[in-house]
Amino acid sequence: MNWDESYQKGEVFWDKGAPSPPLRRYLERHPAHGRTLVPGCGRGHEVALAAEHGLDATGLDIAPTAIAEARELYPKLAGRFIVGDLFNPAAELRGAFDVVLEHTCMSGLPPALRADYRRGIDLTLRPGGLLIGVWFINPDLEPGYEGPPFPFSVADLTALFADGYEIVADYVPDVAFKGREGRERLRVLRRVPVSIGLISQWAKAAMARVGLGGLDTAPLPA
Ligand SMILES: C[S@@+](CC[C@H](N)C(=O)[O-])C[C@H]1O[C@@H](n2cnc3c(N)ncnc32)[C@H](O)[C@@H]1O
Repeated sequence: MNWDESYQKGEVFWDKGAPSPPLRRYLERHPAHGRTLVPGCGRGHEVALAAEHGLDATGLDIAPTAIAEARELYPKLAGRFIVGDLFNPAAELRGAFDVVLEHTCMSGLPPALRADYRRGIDLTLRPGGLLIGVWFINPDLEPGYEGPPFPFSVADLTALFADGYEIVADYVPDVAFKGREGRERLRVLRRVPVSIGLISQWAKAAMARVGLGGLDTAPLPA
């Protein structure tokens, strides 16, 4: 997928021209604080939303045209938008964020790149920080259409962050862009602080040794 070409051609069907309604509602009800990264920020609507809620927000996107358009749309926030690759973040972005806001970055990636996405989150979000995501759950694609967005289930989401993260909120939002009703999941994950993470990994390994592995991957209610 050539993201920049899509922006150059104006073929950006994912862009709704406004911030995600479920993310807005979540931040209204659960104020967050600190340095915040919006990976794959596109034209920057969620960066504007974060700034509106007092967060010290940075938008990152691999497509220079998306970043140029974000700066044009939100000139007061222009300095907050940077071109870069989540999979190989610049040194100053590493471990720098208290919060990551996810909105349709992950679902735009082919399944083969999901591990890179997870690593990108690990590299940027500090231990103890929050990954606040509206995850596009999209199992049904038109025949012959491969994506983006790519098929992604709640079980895929759970598996992607099974180690090193704990779920702190999880529900199907009651507000959505038209056409996305019931197809999104708001899930907030806390990156487990390192020492607890190591203990948890050790406990999982010990459980696997005595034949109790897989308990943490039991499906959550849909
Ligand atoms: C489906 S679009 C969503 C854009 C925006 N979040 C929105 O809701 O309008 C996915 C975005 O992720 C960006 N992207 C893809 N791979 C990336 C990477 N490795 N690092 C940073 N951004 C990336 C693309 O350029 C694109 O803007």
